[in-house]
Amino acid sequence: MAKKVIFSGIQPSGELHIGNYLGAIQNWLRMLDEYDCIFCIVDYHAITAPYDQKELPQRVYEAAVAYIASGLVPERCTVFVQSDVPEHVELEWLLGTVTPIGDLFRMTQYKDKAKDFAQGQSVASGLLCYPILQAADILLYKAHGVPVGEDQAQHLELTREIARNFNRRFGEVFPEPATMLSEARRILGLDGERKMSKSLGNHIGLTETPEQIWEKLRPAKTDPARVRRTDKGDPEKCNIFTSYHRFFTPAPDLERCAEGCRTAGIGCIDCKKVLFTHLRAALDPIRERADEIRGRRDYVLDALDQGARHCKEIAARTIAEVRAAMGMVPRR
Ligand code: TYM
Repeated sequence: MAKKVIFSGIQPSGELHIGNYLGAIQNWLRMLDEYDCIFCIVDYHAITAPYDQKELPQRVYEAAVAYIASGLVPERCTVFVQSDVPEHVELEWLLGTVTPIGDLFRMTQYKDKAKDFAQGQSVASGLLCYPILQAADILLYKAHGVPVGEDQAQHLELTREIARNFNRRFGEVFPEPATMLSEARRILGLDGERKMSKSLGNHIGLTETPEQIWEKLRPAKTDPARVRRTDKGDPEKCNIFTSYHRFFTPAPDLERCAEGCRTAGIGCIDCKKVLFTHLRAALDPIRERADEIRGRRDYVLDALDQGARHCKEIAARTIAEVRAAMGMVPRR
């Protein structure tokens, strides 16, 4: 029996970070054997926010390096760049005809991102239509499931709504894709207040050096009640514990740090050193592999070409089916 299809993507809008890793990539890696996996670098999405066109090619390349270095290798899954398969944009247009505009204005990501546009600068309509393009990404491959962090749940609800609207109007073409949330649904940034995000600069990069990581981790906020080393703390109120330790530190060390925090038996810096050791165990191999493949341009670009060829085949079939369902039939 054919495996179920999984689709997901990350915007190349900056360095990938450990929020992307925990919320998305780590989950994807667990699915490689069970599903037919397609992972996209969504550059059409990345251009909906202000960006520097001179930097975009390098960002796309670095995202590909990060994907492959994390284990999303071309032998085990399909990795490709969205704009290599322009059918995504055609399907976005077609799905736009069954998407109520009010649903787009309701999206919280739209409302947040619209604020990033400078005062007096009008918000690009591409930003409003962003979730239709995301629905097109997923529906183009008739994906059964979409593994993402919590911030994408609303877009996926809309994706299902769009699929239903289309099927009701034009006949059963699309399955309704399931949202597959990661265990690490919403990783906060080092500020302990907002979601870890490239644009907020509160992140730990996936391929940063240990020195860079420690420089960020050492001063990061812990339980605000622990002012002195002798103050007892509550690990559940410490962002370092809830966002990072919990996911990177294995059981015996994790419990030792939690207990040490509660009894003031371990200081915050020593606790962070334990985390740092386990962070390195997870991230060092990714950074080393990224350093190794970054210079092998042909290998990386061949992987993306192979991915795009595979996706184009599927995309062409879906687009033909959608066009026919909508009455756009070949005239000769
Ligand atoms: P993006 O690029 O913002 O994030 C990529 C993936 O990383 C997850 N993520 C997080 N998870 C937990 N904690 C965080 N702090 C954190 N930051 C990011 C996101 O939930 C996401 O899974 N619209 C999407 C990209 C996209 C897409 C798609 C995703 C376009 N088309 C089709 C799935 C399917 C986005 O902006 O992700």
